[in-house]
Amino acid sequence: MKLSSLMVAAAVVLLAGTTAAQISNGVFQPRPKLKPAAPVQRPNPGGGPQFGDALFGLDPANLQAFVDGRTEFEAAETPEGGLGPIFNGKSCVECHSSGGTGGASAITVTRFGRVVNGKFDPLDHLGGSLLQRFAIDPAVREHVPAEANLVVQRLTPPLFGAGLIEAIADEDILLNAQRRQPDGVQGRAGLVTDVVSGKTRVGRFGWKAQQATLLAFSGDAYVNEMGVTNRFFPVENAPNGNRALLARFDKVADVEDTVDPVTGKGDIDHAADFMRFLAPPPPLRLSASAAAGMRLFEQIRCTSCHLPMMYTGANPIAALAHKPVPLFSDLLLHNMGSLGDGIEQATAKGAEMRTAPLWGLRARAPYLHDGRAKTVADAIRGHDGEGAASRDRFKNLTAAERAQLLDYLNAI
Ligand code: HEC
Ligand code: HEC
Repeated sequence: MKLSSLMVAAAVVLLAGTTAAQISNGVFQPRPKLKPAAPVQRPNPGGGPQFGDALFGLDPANLQAFVDGRTEFEAAETPEGGLGPIFNGKSCVECHSSGGTGGASAITVTRFGRVVNGKFDPLDHLGGSLLQRFAIDPAVREHVPAEANLVVQRLTPPLFGAGLIEAIADEDILLNAQRRQPDGVQGRAGLVTDVVSGKTRVGRFGWKAQQATLLAFSGDAYVNEMGVTNRFFPVENAPNGNRALLARFDKVADVEDTVDPVTGKGDIDHAADFMRFLAPPPPLRLSASAAAGMRLFEQIRCTSCHLPMMYTGANPIAALAHKPVPLFSDLLLHNMGSLGDGIEQATAKGAEMRTAPLWGLRARAPYLHDGRAKTVADAIRGHDGEGAASRDRFKNLTAAERAQLLDYLNAI
């Protein structure tokens, strides 16, 4: 679907006057459910699934798919099995581990490019923009090329609750972009072509909202982080674009991740199953201080971007259908000014970053896309661009109020 037809489709959804949204006096009114009066706490805090558990309410077949998927997510690839020739990790869990399998970590990957007169060049022909820093043989290693004048780090984000984020309807993210916001905040949905369906979808995964589905991200991660080609990404990365050098070391025939005719699944499908069925981070019961922090979070308008609650749409899997998703993100791209990393990726411009979901913040550190912030307070102080007004209000809080806000962020 073309951008224009997607927007028409979104407009039709709006104008259809479903229970969802209304146009009143020509002014768009977001659905009440998208804008709760205050951040909502899920029932039974502290009970239910913990970090790394399966989603609550899965049927036995999907619970088994979660377990099988976790095995694949934890499995270390070998050169004989397709690892490399160049890669960043041997297993998904090597990077995604903090708090449990699927978590974040302090491990970063490197992106590079060249900016000339404000124009970004990913240096595709030199192996950009993602560096693969390891190799099965030192002779085939990739390096940041001398042509690059922009080199940045990207931190590993957590995957807890990723299936719920995947199950949020595109329309609901598009609606977030219509919310009228103070402070000059104007997010936009990152529209991408999903390699799995071939359709234009709203990207929501990755620091640049570069992928819309977990299977697409799985295929992307298998080839780009581990060097395992698969049916969606059949072409191996050549070290600094040198295909002759690649050919000398690439001994395993592509496609490396094959589909088992019995299950109809390859490694990428198993890893996607694991992420899809991974429980969301468990919230803590709010102390009086954290409850006060919740009100401050709203008052200083962190909620303009870190939308406390979204909902999944219809879904054939009951555990994912019409569920609250207290992710603390609008899943939109925002111009973050000097905080942006300068890399253009998918539809995101250099200064644009996806609002980082804040749920489960206590199970990870450091923070921000390159891990520059050691503490949550530093991460907030690092906001710029559309986040500057909110950041300044944070700076102007009393020390006691800042402590309350941080208590809240530690509990969500
Ligand atoms: C070398 C470390 C590393 C390895 C290995 C790795 N990842 Fe990641 N992962 C990252 C980083 C860094 C990001 C952020 C990428 C970005 O947006 O630039 C990420 C992002 C993701 C995301 C997006 C999460 C979100 O909410 O934005 C998914 C999904 C994911 N990885 C899945 C996987 C899977 C599946 C594997 C195994 C095939 C894997 N990763 C292997 C480091 C790694
Ligand atoms: C204009 C939108 C916007 C506003 C307003 C905003 N944020 Fe953010 N926030 C973002 C984006 C985008 C990121 C990811 C930026 C990056 O790392 O480059 C982020 C990242 C964060 C992170 C780091 C998360 C992580 O996983 O590393 C924290 C913590 C955070 N915000 C808290 C807050 C708080 C508290 C407020 C209110 C004072 C706030 N934000 C206001 C957009 C916003």
